[in-house]
Amino acid sequence: MEIIYAQDNLNLGQMAARWVAREILVCPNLVLGLPTGSTPIGMYHYLTRLVQEGIISFAQARTFNLDEYVGLTADHPQSYAFFMREHFWSKVDLPNVNVNIPRGDVSNLAVECLRYDDAIQKVGGIDVQILGLGPNGHIGFNEPSHNMEVHTHVVDLTAATIQANTRFFPDSDAVPRQAVTMGVGNIMQARKILLLVSGESKRDILAKTINGPVSTEVPSSILQLHADLTVLTDIKLRVH
Ligand code: GLP
Repeated sequence: MEIIYAQDNLNLGQMAARWVAREILVCPNLVLGLPTGSTPIGMYHYLTRLVQEGIISFAQARTFNLDEYVGLTADHPQSYAFFMREHFWSKVDLPNVNVNIPRGDVSNLAVECLRYDDAIQKVGGIDVQILGLGPNGHIGFNEPSHNMEVHTHVVDLTAATIQANTRFFPDSDAVPRQAVTMGVGNIMQARKILLLVSGESKRDILAKTINGPVSTEVPSSILQLHADLTVLTDIKLRVH
């Protein structure tokens, strides 16, 4: 595991964008796994700038988003599809056909999960997976639990996650209770992983993620087992 420190959230966005830009320059047809949340917004902003300046291009890249809320259509302002269109897809030269996100608004979610896993397999798996970190250690929407799901699946969101994500909705009743998410297996099969962690409130969960016991109760702790994990954070960890 490599840990890279950024000075602050702004710097983290710039460093993450540069990290992804290097990967795209080496492999223009990269298969990229993408997160939502407030942490990666800066990265999307700077990646957009690098594309507009002609330094990088996503014309040949393929992207797979981690997750989507159940019950929200892609044009719902709180859906992750909407977030991605606003912050990234509509701003860069990524062809629509190369963009993938699970759908949370279909009647048969089990079929949707299989379709998503197949789509990932068809392109040969994810080369580079970018992740945010949930306040309770969730990655994608893989919540703390007694077990861990390997493949794309429907998950019941925990009370803590509903609470944490209420800030994006009018009130907590409006937050969907379920999501479709890539499984921990999908994430761990990525060839490289970049974990972005920003803000003092994530200090304890970051420590558990990188130094704590590997446990399904802290889903992000399994990342310790990945052979090519980079953690980019603006939290200065105390050295004992
Ligand atoms: C959501 C997403 C996660 C993301 C997390 C953290 O729950 N499903 O993929 O990592 O939020 O969000 P933030 O970056 O806003 O703290």
